[in-house]
Amino acid sequence: MQIKPFRIEQYFGKYEFTAKYLLSSSDAESHTIQELLDLEPVSHECFLKHRCGYTESPGAPALREVISGMYQGIRPDDILVTAATEEGIFVLYHALLSPGDHVIVETPCYESALEVARSTGAQVSEWRRCYENGWAHDLAALERLIQPNTKIIYVNTPHNPTGLLMSASVFQQVTKLAASRGIIVFCDEVYRELEHDPASRLPAACEIYDRAVSLGSMSKTYGLPGLRLGWLVSKDAEILQRCLEFKYYTTICSSAPSEFLSALALRHREVLVQRNREIVLRNLPLLDSFLCQHSILFEWVKPNASPIGFARFKPQGDVLSFCEDVVKNAGVLLLPGTVYDQPHHIRFGYGRKNMPEALARFSAYLDSCS
Ligand SMILES: Cc1ncc(COP(=O)(O)O)c(C=O)c1O
Repeated sequence: MQIKPFRIEQYFGKYEFTAKYLLSSSDAESHTIQELLDLEPVSHECFLKHRCGYTESPGAPALREVISGMYQGIRPDDILVTAATEEGIFVLYHALLSPGDHVIVETPCYESALEVARSTGAQVSEWRRCYENGWAHDLAALERLIQPNTKIIYVNTPHNPTGLLMSASVFQQVTKLAASRGIIVFCDEVYRELEHDPASRLPAACEIYDRAVSLGSMSKTYGLPGLRLGWLVSKDAEILQRCLEFKYYTTICSSAPSEFLSALALRHREVLVQRNREIVLRNLPLLDSFLCQHSILFEWVKPNASPIGFARFKPQGDVLSFCEDVVKNAGVLLLPGTVYDQPHHIRFGYGRKNMPEALARFSAYLDSCS
């Protein structure tokens, strides 16, 4: 298997644990294990007694039960729990694709959605969106990309890096187009439930199309990436079975303590989501007015979901050097768009409690440069 370096993770790996202020994180504010255990009085004792043996490969029954309750018309058997969402991406592509197959990937995107697909030897086409037309989805372009051997269309909503939701009509048309050719829709929904207006939430792809696979995660909306737990959901038993067969070669099963804590957290997810939505709704206007004040440098399509957004960086200079200068001299971590093949952009994150402080540091840095 040949795979390109994961530039997003490389950049974070270099600075995430040394930079004082994170202004580009893709996840919302986290919680301690104590805070999770406090959600249910008996859980502390149960957690201490929880066996650290192997668990069921498709996922612990109690966890699959609670995950299935998050979707309409989905049973526990329609779920495959994965050791992190990242494993879900790896397993799905490698279980289903071979050289000779064709995949369409919505870009810019979280890099593994593109590079893991390429690493299978399948031919990959990008369904590219761009700032210039407001990150619109060009359905005619998608249709032109389809080939007789197209097996999977990957989409991501709410979207990393723009923080934008796909419109309901585009979402329906993508699934309709895929259904008319029997193509699998792989829908990355790791930011689901963090729509800024809950009324704008789309159905999960697995709810509306039998050959769709929805990808879910503990990491983003619920702020629990340290649990390293995700899931694939599909009504297509054969797809899930093939992913399970592949998972036997990657992790066999997920971590028993993580499955316990994830089930607990998801039973109370309204509490976690509400707290994180409040943070996001408090921080986003600050970031938006900051970008307006610095309109000489930035412009963006204001996000409507998730804790991230993607601003265009107007100066002609090198955005990577700019971000490295900011992190080295102000201790503020930004993510340069180069890691998304979007050199004139910067990803911002506004899901952390101390985001106003990080923004103030960045603002002071810009003042010191002018
Ligand atoms: C859109 C998207 N999908 C998947 C992942 C992987 O998530 P996890 O850290 O839960 O493996 C990420 C992480 O940043 C992401 O942004």
